[in-house]
Amino acid sequence: MKVLVLNGPNIARLDIRDSSIYGDFTYPQLVTHIEKAAQALGFEAEVRQSNEEAEIVGWLHEAADASTPVIINPAAFTHYSYAIRDAAELLKAPLIEVHLSNPIAREEFRHTSVISGVAKGTIAGFGPNSYILALEAMKNLMGK
Ligand code: DQA
Repeated sequence: MKVLVLNGPNIARLDIRDSSIYGDFTYPQLVTHIEKAAQALGFEAEVRQSNEEAEIVGWLHEAADASTPVIINPAAFTHYSYAIRDAAELLKAPLIEVHLSNPIAREEFRHTSVISGVAKGTIAGFGPNSYILALEAMKNLMGK
C-alpha cells in the first residue's frame, strides 16, 4: 500500500539546521530511514519535500483524488498555512502530522498548529522516529 510522506520548508537542509533541535542526520538519511521502515511495515513510501506552499497543496489534492494516506511534516507551514489545512481537509484516507522536534516545548509561535485539527493525530519530538511511529499508527489505521 502506498503512503505519501510530505515535508515542508527547510526539511531538506537538516544538514545545516540546528542539530541540537533536529538531530544529527541529513535529509537523504531521513528519507532512507523512512523508506526502509515503510517497506518493513508493508508500505511503499513516497517521500517528498518542498519549500513551496502551492506545491504541497497540489500534492494533497493528488492524495485526495487517489485516496492515498498521508504523513506530513508541514514544518513552518504548520503554524500558519490555512491553504495546506484546507487541502488536508479534502483527504479521504487518514492524515498524520509529524514533527522532528516538539514544537510545544519551543518558541510560542510554534505552539499553534493549524493542521492538527484535520489530522487523525500528531506525533512530535522523537526525531526521525516520529515518522516511524506515524507509519506504525498508519498501518494500524489502514488495517481497520
Ligand atoms: C518542525 C517544527 C517547526 O516548528 C519548524 O518550523 C520546522 C520543523 C519539526 O519537524 O520539528 O521546520 O516541523
